[in-house]
Amino acid sequence: MRALVTGGAGFIGSHLVDALVARGDEVRVLDDFFTGSRANLNPAAEVYEGSVADEELARRACEGCEVVFHLAAHKAVLRSVEHPLPTDLANTHGTLTVLEAARARGVRRVVYASSSSVYGGTAPVPTREDAPTVPRSPYAVSKLAGEHYCRVYHELYGLETVSLRYFNVYGPRQRPDGAYAAVVPLFLRALLDGDRPVVHGDGHQARDFTYVTDVVDANLRAASAPASRCAGRVYNVARGVETSVLELLAAAARVAGVEAEPEFAPARAGDVRRSRGDAGAAARDLDVRCEIDLETGLARTLDALRRHG
Ligand SMILES: NC(=O)c1ccc[n+]([C@@H]2O[C@H](COP(=O)([O-])OP(=O)(O)OC[C@H]3O[C@@H](n4cnc5c(N)ncnc54)[C@H](O)[C@@H]3O)[C@@H](O)[C@H]2O)c1
Repeated sequence: MRALVTGGAGFIGSHLVDALVARGDEVRVLDDFFTGSRANLNPAAEVYEGSVADEELARRACEGCEVVFHLAAHKAVLRSVEHPLPTDLANTHGTLTVLEAARARGVRRVVYASSSSVYGGTAPVPTREDAPTVPRSPYAVSKLAGEHYCRVYHELYGLETVSLRYFNVYGPRQRPDGAYAAVVPLFLRALLDGDRPVVHGDGHQARDFTYVTDVVDANLRAASAPASRCAGRVYNVARGVETSVLELLAAAARVAGVEAEPEFAPARAGDVRRSRGDAGAAARDLDVRCEIDLETGLARTLDALRRHG
């Protein structure tokens, strides 16, 4: 089939592009390279450079595509707190623009990258999809707005939409640089460089770390599962295991074969205490199982960091 991956030059999107190309699909990428990188781009992909909020470009990119995987977004929570307007334009307006282009061009299904941040940290753990959503940053608001747009486009226009709430994705190509980097690449980079990894707060805050190829697999399954089961719905994509930041650091140090002496820094405002997804609905309706355990995922990520920097 022909598929469009928005954000296909980014961390998760580029792995998805590789998987689609590997199985013989014809792949387009729509990306403005805000955080994405040309080095991530699969050479077999056809590139449409520009913003998902550009109506004309989005329509052209959707032309003749059966499925759109919509991953393009400004995804750093802290950046959204500092710069809410560009986040809203890329995420909320960008998602609406992609849905409208998909509708206009007769796309069958849109698989949307949402986020566990929509829960806001108050829901019972493990968290099911029907838990209350209390977004606590402009980023989380934008992701939740995108989910509602997806549902409404299914209900009003019959576009098959499936929203996936990713939980803390990690893996090769996740950037360890920049003020908004995620904890796994930051820890691995520090350990490789012989620096002390910085732990915000007491380190007992816990996350549900989900390896990138499991998220790619979830996207592929969400694109092909029967519409009667999943269209217009939302699913957690989570391994379903809680790991504290200190446990993560210990595992990373084991994998790297070094000692880790953390440096503690003040807790970050709005940091959620616990996060763990109930992955039952995705297993039932989409046959998704996130099976890569933390040490295996960390070893693969470390290997890629050593090879490619
Ligand atoms: N990484 C995670 O842990 C995580 C967790 C939950 C949800 N998500 C979601 O997954 C998706 C992919 O995230 P990622 O971690 O790969 O981030 P990323 O920053 O590596 O990828 C995002 C991509 O979108 C592109 N982009 C940004 N704004 C754009 C715009 N206006 N028009 C076109 N392209 C644009 C960037 O250049 C980049 O290539 C995002 O939607 C994010 O919200 C990620």
